[in-house]
Amino acid sequence: MVWLNDLDLVKASIEMQSRAYAPYSNYKVGAALLCCDGSVVTGCNVENASYGGTLCAERCAFVKAISKGKNSFAALALSASGERIVMPCGICLQFISEFVNDSFVLLCSDNSGCYKRFTISQLLPYGFNKRFLK
Ligand code: THU
Repeated sequence: MVWLNDLDLVKASIEMQSRAYAPYSNYKVGAALLCCDGSVVTGCNVENASYGGTLCAERCAFVKAISKGKNSFAALALSASGERIVMPCGICLQFISEFVNDSFVLLCSDNSGCYKRFTISQLLPYGFNKRFLK
């Protein structure tokens, strides 16, 4: 398993905020997803006049990665333009949980690069997943 240091991944997420399309909330979110092959796939939030059509930065990164053929993920860094550390929304936690296990690390950062590490089960305990469907 390759690993990029936490802060480099956090910095990549902060840089991605400049790509955010957020004319409605003006809240710019960046994500950087470290794949187990060592590549980093980035994402940003993409809003829509029909607000429900908005795509969060985390799902943007995962959809890009899956569509590139990536299927194994090590970590995701997330940051946003507000002053506080940003946490993934519930939809994104559900979406991320589809593709990761508890060795996956979520780095939730503020804009100065101060971050906290979480596992998916810390943030989505008792979540619904594909095992229920078997
Ligand atoms: N947003 C994300 O990109 N990720 C999250 O986990 C929380 C929310 C975006 C969606 C919307 O463009 C803006 O933040 C305000 O909700």
